[in-house]
Amino acid sequence: MSKRSAKIVREVAAEGIVLLENIDNCLPLNNDNSVALVGKGCFEYLKGGYGSAEVVSNYTIGLLDGLLARKAKICDKSLQKNDVYDLETLNNFAKESKTALVMLTRNTGEGRDRAVSDFNLSFEEEQLFELLDKSNFNEVVVLLNIGHIINIAAMKQYKKIKAILLVWFAGMEGGNAICDVLYGDVTPSGKLTDTIAQNYYDYPSSDTFHDFPFFVNYKEDIFVGYRYFETFSKEKVVYPFGYGLSYTTFAFENVKYDFDDTQISVSVTVKNVGNRAGKEVVQIYSSSPKSDVLKSLIELRAYEKTKLLQPGEEQTLTLSFSIDDMAYFDERRASYVLEEGIYSIFMGSNVRDCVLCGEYKQNFEKVVYSTTLKFSFGLPYKINEDGKFVKTTYWGVSQEQNSATVFTAGAEGTLLESRSNSDDDLKQERNKYSLYDVEEGKISLETFIKTMTSAQIIEMTMGQPPALIRGTAGIGNIPSLKIPNPQTADGPAGVRSTIPTLCFPCATLLACTWNDDILFSVGAAMGDDAISNDVDILLAPGLNIHRDPLCGRNFEYYSEEPIVSGRSAAAIVRGMQSKGVGATIKHLAFNNKEENRRESISIVSERAIREIYLKGFNIAIKEGNPWCVMTSYNLINGIRTAMHDGLLKGILREEWGYDGLVMTDWHVNSHLWREIKAGSNIKMPCGYPEEIQQAKDHYKGNLISRKELEECARYILQTVMKTRRFKERNFGKTQKIDEFNILDFICLSATWSGTKREDDGTLSLTDIGLDRRGNDTFIDYRIENDKTSEFILRITASCLNSGQSVEIFMDGEKLVEVDCNTQNCSFEKFYVFESKPFVVPEGVHEIRSYVRGAKASDSIHYKKWEFIRK
Ligand code: BGC
Repeated sequence: MSKRSAKIVREVAAEGIVLLENIDNCLPLNNDNSVALVGKGCFEYLKGGYGSAEVVSNYTIGLLDGLLARKAKICDKSLQKNDVYDLETLNNFAKESKTALVMLTRNTGEGRDRAVSDFNLSFEEEQLFELLDKSNFNEVVVLLNIGHIINIAAMKQYKKIKAILLVWFAGMEGGNAICDVLYGDVTPSGKLTDTIAQNYYDYPSSDTFHDFPFFVNYKEDIFVGYRYFETFSKEKVVYPFGYGLSYTTFAFENVKYDFDDTQISVSVTVKNVGNRAGKEVVQIYSSSPKSDVLKSLIELRAYEKTKLLQPGEEQTLTLSFSIDDMAYFDERRASYVLEEGIYSIFMGSNVRDCVLCGEYKQNFEKVVYSTTLKFSFGLPYKINEDGKFVKTTYWGVSQEQNSATVFTAGAEGTLLESRSNSDDDLKQERNKYSLYDVEEGKISLETFIKTMTSAQIIEMTMGQPPALIRGTAGIGNIPSLKIPNPQTADGPAGVRSTIPTLCFPCATLLACTWNDDILFSVGAAMGDDAISNDVDILLAPGLNIHRDPLCGRNFEYYSEEPIVSGRSAAAIVRGMQSKGVGATIKHLAFNNKEENRRESISIVSERAIREIYLKGFNIAIKEGNPWCVMTSYNLINGIRTAMHDGLLKGILREEWGYDGLVMTDWHVNSHLWREIKAGSNIKMPCGYPEEIQQAKDHYKGNLISRKELEECARYILQTVMKTRRFKERNFGKTQKIDEFNILDFICLSATWSGTKREDDGTLSLTDIGLDRRGNDTFIDYRIENDKTSEFILRITASCLNSGQSVEIFMDGEKLVEVDCNTQNCSFEKFYVFESKPFVVPEGVHEIRSYVRGAKASDSIHYKKWEFIRK
């Protein structure tokens, strides 16, 4: 890990920390004054959440490490991690230190939502604050080490709390970054990308978030976050969208407003009139003319951050946006419409604190863009002018129909070609070229694809085995056509592996920087780390909208605001891809809660879909051009996103002109052939032979066409050709079989692998696990044999269930089956299983191993394979 990378992790963390309160200029702290660490949170710093954004880092700097590193004065007595305090103890600390630091932590992650109790302060936290109020401390500084918003308003009642810093999950350098801000080496310039309300139930989504496991009514429609609060419920806001304090003061001077036929622009001189160097964010909002159409009172249009301004220094920024951006989506006409009337343009440092800087008059109603409706259901509820929910005449999903199966049906595909796609076509051997002939300009990609058999393409529409430790899946992988197996890996906070990598701050912190340049550098550093770990495509960034504060994955996403989400994602994508590493924006779309995420139906109006939930993806694609898009697990208005042709073909390809690869999320509950028809290109991760077979059968039965397959092949191969693995002609390692050779599993592909820490502190691989997860998963390996002879295969493995076996294929033909049946099953117990003898001819061979078993959850962990020459 380079010093440069650690520096950017620390720099961005400090820039995304948001200062929420600073009564009596309590911060920055003075290095000469001692601080006391109160509460166990001070000793339990969380660098990130769990799930796809979980990263094993080389080291983690927690709060205490950060304080020690800068030689801060700390009350020794407070260094004992403690759960419960009494007044006497606290007053003892206060004899040495006048400032108490309290860090509140909340873990969160993929696959689970948070409970309302996680939002609220716990009884212990309340008691601690009460006690601190009675103590002899002068001031309490609260650090919020969280991945989702909590009840910050509740802290306002404690009079000793003088400062609150929202430090989020600040990554592996978090402790250093927090201290940089606490002690004023960095002036805070982070701004909220979400509204902080008084109470969880003030958020309009709270009404429906936990209602039903099988569906969620997005009743609030377009009124997400500040759009709701600023329009209907201003008084419920504690810290508005865009808000964040500084240690210095900025004046906005010389404001100039201008417009032409297409653009509105505002220029402003930002002057640092305080006495510390700092950065400020200028935010431009607009409000639309009043009409029958219910609209948000105010909406973000543009933003820009200054450079670091020294006291007295100034910078002029010019911000502009397209007039057409102010159009709303009219469902009746399926059109974006710019209403006639006066649009007011505001400028300021947050959604509340902004002033009118100009007006724009639209003289006639303009239909900006007409399309067709792609998401036919409407909302069963709508919000009216008073902010109340009322039933609509739209037909949505009723409670009785709260089963996903009702909606997964639909047309089973239509006959596309009169010609029958015969078995022969599937098997026809017509491969004459390799993918390098395309690279060398000998043939076009289209011609190369024509030489592929339909069977080859169908197999390629399935993800390929991961060849990295804790890798997720590969793509392509037809060595005979010189198509390598480029590797994907998670995720939004950096490369997820069991080998230590760089852990960046969570996405929400990144977005709170409102700084595209620094996010570009973060993306580039992620790209560098991906290269060091042999990763070709990162499964990041995530940019689902923060609809509700309790969504377990909010920390992996940026904001409640689509422009902030889209721009942040685009900057990260550009940075990553500048290094030749592909980005995957995810999860398209409406993945706004985690509970029952594979089966939950998001019921959203087409207007909210377009104005809120898809807009960020559109911006990220326009401004970042990511190599890949990952669809979500959930269903949208009854149809799985991975098989939604309105979303994929209609919007992504036709309306947005996206030319990259579309992959599903991992183990999504939809069928490959339906995904192909809808415009998805790869089903992730790998295995699923019955899905491949079904797709082949439906191809033969004319339910999918050759044209549809060729489309998939084009998107897959275009992406493969961009990767380093392709450019470096890297087809992985081939293992030579010598006598009693033990395969080197570190380079062997597998779905899961474990590491263990040795006594000397190094990490070593313990085993390779093949996890069947309801479908066959396989691993691939290449062996080289110097003379034709008979072998047996000896496998040392542990099994989760009895009745399992391992099937070995060589060059596509079944070689042998190894019975791995044991009674005493456990992952801790390793057994040795031996195959019958088989012949391996001289030369290089592809070996593929499948786990077969009686139960869907069967899995096997390999410790070693030995090819033993007889
Ligand atoms: C997550 C994705 C992730 C994938 C691979 C899924 O469960 O939803 O975000 O990239 O797993 O780990």
